[in-house]
Amino acid sequence: MEIRSAGITDIPSIRVLAYDTWPAAYGAILSQAQLTYMLELIYSEHALQEQMSSLAHRFIIITDAGRDVGFASYSQKANAAKGIFRLHKLYVLPDQQGKGTGKKLLDYLIADISRENAEALELNVNRNNKAFDFYKKMGFDISREEDIDIGAGYFMNDYVMTKLLK
Ligand SMILES: CC(C)(COP(=O)(O)OP(=O)(O)OC[C@H]1O[C@@H](n2cnc3c(N)ncnc32)[C@H](O)[C@@H]1OP(=O)(O)O)[C@@H](O)C(=O)NCCC(=O)NCCS
Repeated sequence: MEIRSAGITDIPSIRVLAYDTWPAAYGAILSQAQLTYMLELIYSEHALQEQMSSLAHRFIIITDAGRDVGFASYSQKANAAKGIFRLHKLYVLPDQQGKGTGKKLLDYLIADISRENAEALELNVNRNNKAFDFYKKMGFDISREEDIDIGAGYFMNDYVMTKLLK
């Protein structure tokens, strides 16, 4: 498996990975309408371009035998102390899960931000998402609950989880 930095030209591949991963990840948690709404909100070409450019989110893609099988994005946390980072996205194709791929992405990005003196990595995860147990296993703990209004009458019912890096 190999990991590469992803840029604007990788947006089509990131969209395919997200659209292939989300239904399995959120089908039992969110309504179909909310799932479609959120995919458009977060994964339209325009939204991804903005995340990469104005918001300076770093994207990485992991490949297995030349095939893109997962991705992650992360950045410094806005309006926070310099050492606080956010994990925005971490997704592995359903047929590739449980093979160490998600952990590889996480280890890679933690190594990257550790070179910049990161003190903590924070994320949001849906309170009913099985990924919660993955994050617990990876050393994240619950910091608080957050219900975020994402428009159109929809909410994200999340835990904020934090992993201390120092
Ligand atoms: C969550 C996700 C990224 C984890 O990636 P993965 O490649 O499946 O996980 P890995 O194989 O790297 O697992 C690493 C370790 O965590 C454990 N683990 C993985 N998923 C787990 C789960 N749901 N519950 C408990 N443990 C889990 C593995 O058993 C493994 O343990 P080990 O090191 O003792 O062998 C992946 O399952 C995924 O994309 N899920 C759907 C999308 C999603 O919900 N993403 C998070 C959005 S916030």
